Amino acid sequence: MDRETKEKIEKILELKEKKDALILAHNYQIPEIQDVADFVGDSLGLSEKAKETDKPLIVFCGVLFMAETAKILNPDKKVLIPDPEAGCSLVESITVEELRKWKQKHPDAVVVGYINTSADVKAECDYICTSSNAVNVVESIPEDKEILFLPDMFLGFYVQAKTKRKNLHIWPGECHVHAAIRIEDIKRAYDEHKNAELLIHPECGCSSSCMYLTADGKIKGEILSTSGMIKYAKKSPASEFVVATEIGILHPLRKKAPEKKFYPVNEEAICKYMKMITIDKLLKSLEREIYEVNVPEEIMRKAKRGIERMLAL
Ligand code: 13P
Ligand code: SF4
Repeated sequence: MDRETKEKIEKILELKEKKDALILAHNYQIPEIQDVADFVGDSLGLSEKAKETDKPLIVFCGVLFMAETAKILNPDKKVLIPDPEAGCSLVESITVEELRKWKQKHPDAVVVGYINTSADVKAECDYICTSSNAVNVVESIPEDKEILFLPDMFLGFYVQAKTKRKNLHIWPGECHVHAAIRIEDIKRAYDEHKNAELLIHPECGCSSSCMYLTADGKIKGEILSTSGMIKYAKKSPASEFVVATEIGILHPLRKKAPEKKFYPVNEEAICKYMKMITIDKLLKSLEREIYEVNVPEEIMRKAKRGIERMLAL
């Protein structure tokens, strides 16, 4: 790391103390951001940290929907995101108008929305879920209830295969990074690293095929959220892992399990939105208290119900 970056990091740490701020970072953030954060985690872990903090200022190093979730859980605190343009292709895959039309066609259905949605879409959902609890959330809903699951179809197919629910309708949305990870990539990586275990994110285009292959014992692997991957890799007796998700996860994996080897299924699996947060932008964010995340009050109130139902589970 060059001297200039080190100095900027020192300033960030000073300002963080002075302003009594909490820096949260997602597992896909660049290594320098993860290393300066107070907590690094997956969508669920970050929501939980945001909910329990007593700090007056939260700086969210992740994408906008995550910072909005932190604001919804902390309406009285100041929530900042260093770059408000840090979006998410999954969030873009459904609008609130599309969701309302879909609900009209299924008036009795329970709506389960993935956390990767905009605040106004969340406000129309009965439950919010993340990659680590989507199966549990769906299982908590009475079996005779129709479910609208949105917006990630690969996570939806995986949840459907796991829960064997026939009345689960799935929105055809996808994350461009994970959709591009196909079963052929998994097979090739597995051939190259025959002793490795696979760690697969449920948003991957191959997640349900992987589920059948692992159930058959054809490959050894687990379908997990990003933090689930870290916990699993630490405790597994395996010493090598092939990782099917955004490559930012390699940093916390290698940090938390330094004695093990991790290989990405696809080196190009990079979320350009997650990489928009830099040390420069984080420093400016703390100095100038920009960019403040705000969500209209009525939307916050409605969106909070589904998030809190999830956290209560
Ligand atoms: P996790 O909640 O598993 O970290 O996933 C978030 C995400 O955006 C995956 O692309
Ligand atoms: Fe969204 Fe995909 Fe990036 Fe995750 S990896 S933040 S789902 S675009």
